[in-house]
Amino acid sequence: MCGIVGYIGDKRASEVIIKGLKRLEYRGYDSAGIAYHNGTLEIKKGKGKVAKLEQMLEGGNSAKLGIGHTRWATHGEPNDINSHPHTSSSGKLALVHNGIIENYASLKKMLEGNGCEFYSETDTEVVAKLIESLLEKDPKDLKKAVQLALAQIDGTYGLAIIHTDFPEQIVVARKGSPLLIGVGNGEMLIASDASAVAEYTDQVVYLDDGEVAVIKKDEYQVHTLDDDSLIKEVHELALSLEEIEKGGYPFFMLKEIFEQPKAISDCLRGRLNAKEGTITLGGISRVMEQLTDAKRLIIAACGTSWHSGIVGEYLFESLLKIPVEVEYASELRYKESLIGEGDVMIVVSQSGETADTLAALRRARKNGALVIGVVNVVGSSIARETDAGVYIHAGPEIGVASTKAFTAQVTVLTLMAIQLAQYKGTISDEKARKLISELDSIPKKMQQVLDKSSELDQVSDLFSYAPNFLYLGRSFGFPVALEGALKLKEISYIHAEGYPAAEMKHGPIALIDEMMPVVVIAGTRHTNDKMVSNIEEVKARKGRIISIVTEGNEEVENLSEFSFSVPEVADELSPLLTVIPLQILSYNIAVNRGCNVDQPRNLAKSVTVE
Ligand code: G6P
Repeated sequence: MCGIVGYIGDKRASEVIIKGLKRLEYRGYDSAGIAYHNGTLEIKKGKGKVAKLEQMLEGGNSAKLGIGHTRWATHGEPNDINSHPHTSSSGKLALVHNGIIENYASLKKMLEGNGCEFYSETDTEVVAKLIESLLEKDPKDLKKAVQLALAQIDGTYGLAIIHTDFPEQIVVARKGSPLLIGVGNGEMLIASDASAVAEYTDQVVYLDDGEVAVIKKDEYQVHTLDDDSLIKEVHELALSLEEIEKGGYPFFMLKEIFEQPKAISDCLRGRLNAKEGTITLGGISRVMEQLTDAKRLIIAACGTSWHSGIVGEYLFESLLKIPVEVEYASELRYKESLIGEGDVMIVVSQSGETADTLAALRRARKNGALVIGVVNVVGSSIARETDAGVYIHAGPEIGVASTKAFTAQVTVLTLMAIQLAQYKGTISDEKARKLISELDSIPKKMQQVLDKSSELDQVSDLFSYAPNFLYLGRSFGFPVALEGALKLKEISYIHAEGYPAAEMKHGPIALIDEMMPVVVIAGTRHTNDKMVSNIEEVKARKGRIISIVTEGNEEVENLSEFSFSVPEVADELSPLLTVIPLQILSYNIAVNRGCNVDQPRNLAKSVTVE
């Protein structure tokens, strides 16, 4: 949510920052801005995309230091004035901020009482004015003024600050919003996400909460808020430029849909041995005992990751025989805290930075639960704060609508469920071998689905302007129905609901008429008869059936106006295939409607505020 980039070195800062902001634009794209200085502070900012900001910079400048921001509005509508950077009263200090300053109203009142004038509706502007007011007391030390200001601030922040009296430094601070330092040769970058620095360096330092750093061209120093000096580990980034570029596809989302066979192969590599019928997940080997002895498992996540969590629930309950609760992290964090010792929480997150998921995991750990992460972004906050975990290795996901991360999360949860069930002895050898061998063939089967994706063109065209969609599934098809509906509303703005097929009778059936496309996910054998009855119920109300079936399911095909088949696969693994046509259907419809697939309105890839 919001992106921050900063640069100090010998290059033209604004060029490096604009490139970085373009890579971060998927995190927020209401408005964009940049501040740089060469003696006097220059600010360019405004509502709209980074490309517009780039035009404002035409004509050039020679500043070698600057900070930039791409915004997802929290306080104050997205307009030119509310865009970051924000400045202090003297116009010498500029800062960019991700997060929310919760006590901004009282701070603003106090500063106004001291004669400060405010021009924006943001919570961020108070930080600029507050730092300046504290700097007046000790004008030689910008870092100290920042530390003193942060001691008065409640809320979350990733902050980058520049000041014309400190021409050779950027001061940054973090609490609850990611920030890293890209350590170059004679240059330093700062960013909220590694993709913005990958072009310049593979050496990064991740800041932790409560840390403030002074970044100079040749060095960085990290301190606590109380000014204790810290020695930080330098990590090597494993991120190639190819992975974060579109590679000929019109949108990242389409690229990522088509990358799924590779993402799943990468996810399985070195972990699954189909010949031996074994699975090895190094990340949880230490905690196998605790995991299999758990009284219950709690899966906490948001959005698409929450849908993967429901697939996880079905898998863990059926294979491992441990009760599972799947919770929205945002609800869990404020519920009566009944999670404690003996419980295991699994947090699922693509970005590893979702604020609510992070808060849920912190609370569970504080209460004594073991917390396991299923995360994509290596080195992210969730990955670092969990007790143990398994990376999904899907590679960078840039399209705001999650696709390959969903299938890779489901793959990891499947690997975990099988391995733990083998360890605990709750799965027969025969069943484990069958699932492992089928899992091994998933990338090939995904490719078969993708190879015939053009079969979805006609149905996509036919229903591109439908005002509503209903998605129905049973068992393993239910989370897929939720995910299919979410994909459609996220990128095409069509209202869509996902429902357990039988539950439809308790409400949504009232919506069905001859205008209503009803997508049924009929990929699980053990519920097929019941699904057929539900389809008949829809047909009896003249609903238009679009079905996703496994090959040979003629019964459902014959009941459908349109049908798309995926290769035969065990019920437990069916979400890995049945979700793909739904991703493509949503993509096609969004493109037909002229929507910006990668940057849907109002959404952000990584939600780092509550
Ligand atoms: C946002 C994204 C979704 C994502 C959700 C959870 O809403 O747009 O695609 O599923 O956050 O994010 P996480 O990074 O924790 O999986």
